[in-house]
Amino acid sequence: MDISVKTTSAASQRSACLVVGIFDRRKLSSAAVELDSASSGYLSSILQRGDMEGKVGQTLLLHAVEAIPAQRILLVGCGKEKDFTIRQYKKAMAAAVKSLKDCNVRDAVFYLADLPTKDLNQAQRIKLTAQAIHRGCYQFDQLKSKNGKSKIALQKAVLNVADKHQLTKARLAVSMGNAVALGVNTASDLGNLPGNICTPSYLASTAQKNAKRYPDMKVKVLKQKDMEELKMGAFLSVAKGSRQPPRLIVIEYNGGNKDDKPVALVGKGITFDSGGISIKPSAAMDEMKFDMCGAASVLGTMVTIGELKLPINVVGIVPTCENMPDGAANKPGDIVTSMSGQTIEVLNTDAEGRLILCDALTYSEQFKPRAVIDIATLTGACVVALGKHPCGLLSNDQALAQELLDAGTHSDDRAWQLPLWDEYQDQLKSNFADMANIGGPQAGTITAACFLSRFAKKLKWAHLDIAGVAWESGHNKGATGRPVPLLSQYLFDKCGKKYQLK
Ligand code: BES
Ligand code: MN
Ligand code: ZN
Repeated sequence: MDISVKTTSAASQRSACLVVGIFDRRKLSSAAVELDSASSGYLSSILQRGDMEGKVGQTLLLHAVEAIPAQRILLVGCGKEKDFTIRQYKKAMAAAVKSLKDCNVRDAVFYLADLPTKDLNQAQRIKLTAQAIHRGCYQFDQLKSKNGKSKIALQKAVLNVADKHQLTKARLAVSMGNAVALGVNTASDLGNLPGNICTPSYLASTAQKNAKRYPDMKVKVLKQKDMEELKMGAFLSVAKGSRQPPRLIVIEYNGGNKDDKPVALVGKGITFDSGGISIKPSAAMDEMKFDMCGAASVLGTMVTIGELKLPINVVGIVPTCENMPDGAANKPGDIVTSMSGQTIEVLNTDAEGRLILCDALTYSEQFKPRAVIDIATLTGACVVALGKHPCGLLSNDQALAQELLDAGTHSDDRAWQLPLWDEYQDQLKSNFADMANIGGPQAGTITAACFLSRFAKKLKWAHLDIAGVAWESGHNKGATGRPVPLLSQYLFDKCGKKYQLK
C-alpha cells in the first residue's frame, strides 16, 4: 500500500475515487462543497433526496459525476460536526476503506484528514489515517490455499493536505503511520498464526529475521541451558510441561546515545496455554494460541522503531514457552524457586504467565532500564472488569502510569488504571512458600499484578494486561496488533516534539 500526501483541488483531481466527508445532517465538508459547485449542485441534490444523512460510518458511492474528472465520489458520513473527535473520525475512515474494498477501487484520494477534530492536530490525524488504511486492508490468509485467498484492490491512497506548508510534517506523519501499521501487522500475523507453527523457536527466529533489517538492532536467544544457569526456576517450571523447548528472546535496539538508559519491554510469550494440569475447559480453547500477543506486541513495536530509526534505546525481552499438561509438568502444590530467590507455590498451573514474567523482570535489571513495561494476556478477570476497549494498567510509579495513559489516549489505543494497593498483597499468602501464584477469586487482575510487583521492586515498572484487547472473538476472530500503537506512542513521546507531531 502506497500512501502519500498532496495539496490538490477535488474538482480537478483525476482518480478512481475521491473520498469526501458529509456531516450530520447533510452538511457538506469543504471538499464536498467544491465538488458540488463544479457539478452544478449534484451532491446537494442527492442529499436533499434523502439518500444520506451524514451519520458516522454511512457511505454513498457516486459514479461518473458530470464535470468531475474523477471516476467516482465516495461520500462518507462523519456524524455531528460539533462532536467530531478522533474516535468518530476513525469510524468514518474505517467505513470509507471498507467501502473502497467492496467495490475494488485501486486508488483513492482522501479529503478527510483535512477536517479538523477537537482532540488531535492534522499531522497526528494523518498518522492515524495511514494506520486506518493499512488496518482496513489487513487480511491474514497465508494459511489458506489459493481458492481461499481474496485480493484487495486498493493499492494507492493520497491524503489531501489543504495547506502546502504542512506537507513536510504530513510526510513524517505518514511515515510514522506506516511504521506503526507495520508493527501492528507484524504483531497480528504472529498472533494469528496457530500454536503448531508459532512456537517459541519460531518467535525467536522471527525476531532474528526482523532485526536483520535494522543496523541498530541485535538479537540474542537464550536456550534452556542458559536459563538453568541463570536459575530461572519459575519460567522453566512452566516450560518443562511441553515438548517445545523454551526461549528467552532479547532484542536490543540502540538508536540513542551509548549511555542512555533503555526502556525495557517485556512480553508474555505463551505460544499455547492449555492451562497445564489445571487444564482449561475446551470451549474456545483455540483462542489460547493468542496467549503470546504480549510477545508479539514487543516484536511489532521493535519493527516500528527500527523502521523510523528512533533516537532511543529499547530492549525487548520475551520469555516464551508452551503451557501443557505432561508427566513433567507443574502440579498444583509444587514449589519453585524464581531467579530472584523468592519461592512460589504453584496452586494453579493455569496462572503460568506470571511465572515466566517474574524471571524475565528479574533478568531485565541488568540493563538498568529507565522504565520497564510488561505486556501480557494475563487474566480473564481483566476482560470481565474492563471488556475489550482499554487494556488494564497497573504500576509502581505514577508518573510512568500517567505517561502510558496519555500515550493510549493520543494513539487511540487506550489503557485504564487499576489500583496496586498493598492490601491486595495479602491474597498471595502461602503456608509453604514465599507466595502463592494465585490470589483467590477477588480482583484477579490486581493480584496478578501484585505478584509481578514483588519482582519489580528495583524497577520503575508498569504492567499492561491485554487479555481483553489483544484479539477479537466471534466471526471477526483475529489478533488486533494492540497495544503496538500505545507502546510506539509512549516511545515517540520520549523522542521529543518532532515525533509527537506537535
Ligand atoms: N492466558 C490466561 C488469561 C486469559 C484467559 C486471557 C482468557 C484471555 C482470556 C492466563 O494464563 C490464565 O489462565 N489466567 C487465569 C488465572 C487464574 C488461574 C488465577 C485466569 O484468568 O483464569
Ligand atoms: Mn493460563
Ligand atoms: Zn496464559
